[in-house]
Amino acid sequence: MIAPRPAVLKMAPYHPPSGGRAGKLRLDFNENTVGCSPRVAEYLREVLTQPLLAVYPEYEDTRPALATFFGISPDELLLSNGTDEAIQVLINTYVDDGDEVLTLTPSYAMYRFYAELAGAQVREVPYEADTLAFPVARFLAQIRPSTKAILVANPNNPTGCGVSLAVVEQVLQAAPRAAVLIDEAYYEFCGRTALPLLNKYPNLFVSRTFSKAYGMAAMRMGCLMSNAANMAHLRKAQSPYSVNLLAALAARVAVADTEYVSTYVAEAVASRETLYRFFDEMKIGYWRSEANFVLFRAGERAVPIRDELRRRGVLVRDRSYELPGAVRVTVGRAEQTERFMQELREIW
Ligand SMILES: Cc1ncc(COP(=O)(O)O)c(C=O)c1O
Repeated sequence: MIAPRPAVLKMAPYHPPSGGRAGKLRLDFNENTVGCSPRVAEYLREVLTQPLLAVYPEYEDTRPALATFFGISPDELLLSNGTDEAIQVLINTYVDDGDEVLTLTPSYAMYRFYAELAGAQVREVPYEADTLAFPVARFLAQIRPSTKAILVANPNNPTGCGVSLAVVEQVLQAAPRAAVLIDEAYYEFCGRTALPLLNKYPNLFVSRTFSKAYGMAAMRMGCLMSNAANMAHLRKAQSPYSVNLLAALAARVAVADTEYVSTYVAEAVASRETLYRFFDEMKIGYWRSEANFVLFRAGERAVPIRDELRRRGVLVRDRSYELPGAVRVTVGRAEQTERFMQELREIW
């Protein structure tokens, strides 16, 4: 064995339970539970030729199209291999070995992952104990002049809770020397965005993904946005071809079919309400969510409930390792939510 860097030695392996999901009702990863827009799949089938696959990807058409969609200029946009690469490029651009990175817990695992990989010292501020609300005062108190990056999911995964733009601004003001990432992976389900603040705060970065509402998780397509001066540095820290051509082509078609996404989002949001009523009726505790998933209290039986649902063909995500008794379920179409409720009712 060759000795790895100390930062890697210290890391625990991360194994999301991602095998054997085919054919089951996927309510475990907050993906679009139906699929991407049919126009995206059709377009890919049309353009996919042997010569096309032989050529390194070019992004000349995709970047301006997505920038227009987001209402920014192309030099404020970085295409990334999912949000994950956006997080990685941001960390690699601003965080050195031993630097401080601030985030929250429980939250998206890749913040800690990339920060630790870079050798950073990661500090995690817990969400409020019972409500799982954003801990405004405690979080602001943890920001130091030495903090190099701040990573916040809005709304957050796995809690589903969001934070107001007023608080986002407080964070940006308290950390003028830190790269502040507002990860808006679930933006479509809540409609709140920090994008209009890009010109006001030079330390603000906003990420979006095509993995959730757009139903393109397999393609790995994300976007990172900030002012042009920051972006020039981020581009230096990114491999030139990390976004594959199919993802780049598909994203252009996806943003042109806004109706598909808005219809799906409306269905998921309606499902969220249905689920609340079901949990109320069943006297099951849960946290209200601004995203396409709901975290509920399964108590001591969180893991057996997850396993029994899996046996019945319904996948949900156990989160009890970080929030005792908590299980997360993705919402999608009405009939899918119906199926979940029916199975859970039977085993509860
Ligand atoms: C908050 C958050 N950010 C980012 C991602 C992943 O996004 P991507 O597939 O674009 O890497 C997830 C996925 O679960 C997430 O919950």
